[in-house]
Amino acid sequence: MRVFVAGGTGVLGRRLVPQLVARGHQVTATTTSSAKAGLVEQLGAEAVVMDGLDAASVGAAVAKAAPDAIVHQMTAISATHAGKADMKHMDRWFAGTNRLRTEGTDHLLAAAEAAGVTNLVAQGYGAWNGLRSGALLKTEQDPIDPMTGTPAEPGMAALRHVEDVVVKAGGAVLRYGWFYGPGAMEDLVEPIRKRQFPVVGSGAGVCSWIHLDDAASATVLAVEQKAKGVFNIVDDEPAEANDWLPYLAECAGAKKPMRVPVWLARPLAGAVAVTVLAEGRGFSNAKAKRELGWELRYPSWRLGFKSELA
Ligand SMILES: NC(=O)c1ccc[n+]([C@@H]2O[C@H](COP(=O)([O-])OP(=O)(O)OC[C@H]3O[C@@H](n4cnc5c(N)ncnc54)[C@H](OP(=O)(O)O)[C@@H]3O)[C@@H](O)[C@H]2O)c1
Repeated sequence: MRVFVAGGTGVLGRRLVPQLVARGHQVTATTTSSAKAGLVEQLGAEAVVMDGLDAASVGAAVAKAAPDAIVHQMTAISATHAGKADMKHMDRWFAGTNRLRTEGTDHLLAAAEAAGVTNLVAQGYGAWNGLRSGALLKTEQDPIDPMTGTPAEPGMAALRHVEDVVVKAGGAVLRYGWFYGPGAMEDLVEPIRKRQFPVVGSGAGVCSWIHLDDAASATVLAVEQKAKGVFNIVDDEPAEANDWLPYLAECAGAKKPMRVPVWLARPLAGAVAVTVLAEGRGFSNAKAKRELGWELRYPSWRLGFKSELA
């Protein structure tokens, strides 16, 4: 297939493009910076400079690539695009990402329609943002938590937009768990090394993780099978912060994380951090395994953290 990857240079794009190429697909991948065209070519794809927030730029890039499938992996989370990570003010940190998930998705869908492309796969999120009521593990039938009244609310609304419009257009949305793997370890481990990442309250918040290579392999399957609907792309072992955080610290050779009560964490780190670490709910991967025939190389974060930080 001819596959158009919007956002081919991010942590996932850098693992996804080579997997697509290895499967014999012809890939066009985008970056916003001509300086990264060489990186895209090294990954085995044709590079195109595109601004996902500019309808004309998206329309021209998609028309020129004439793809059979379009994959949306555009976010603006890195320091280059969003400045310093700021969990407490997630609405500000994610403002660009939220636009890419709303306006950017709409531009891609319009370009897809103009080019007659119905095979669409977009990035969603299903890590700790399951509804904080009902079952401990969430399926694709469960909506994500709207996080009403918190700085994550606009981000959750943007994710809902992706799910609504992409599924309506006949495509698939992959709710990836929390990414780890090549290029994604430092952002995770640095605050743990600085002891800025404590266990909050009971530490009973549940999170689903996913290694980037497993996220990429699920994405390849979704493209090849023209998947439709929402799929949770997470590992087999949703875990409490009580379990994964001290283990990650140990694998990184860092000191044990501190413990901080909720009343102290809330003003210091914000409502979203408290949810992630003390209240979150994870996701089930049964549908992706059953319907896509997906097999994980890293079924548990225990194996993955250890091998990435060895
Ligand atoms: N599920 C998860 O846990 C999850 C999901 C996504 C990201 N993250 C984390 O977020 C951090 C940063 O992620 P990242 O390295 O992938 O970087 P990123 O800054 O989020 O960029 C991702 C991709 O989107 C592209 N992009 C950014 N702005 C764009 C725009 N206006 N138009 C079109 N494309 C645009 C980037 O292109 P260029 O930079 O080449 O211009 C890049 O290809 C990492 O720590 C990662 O693990 C986590």
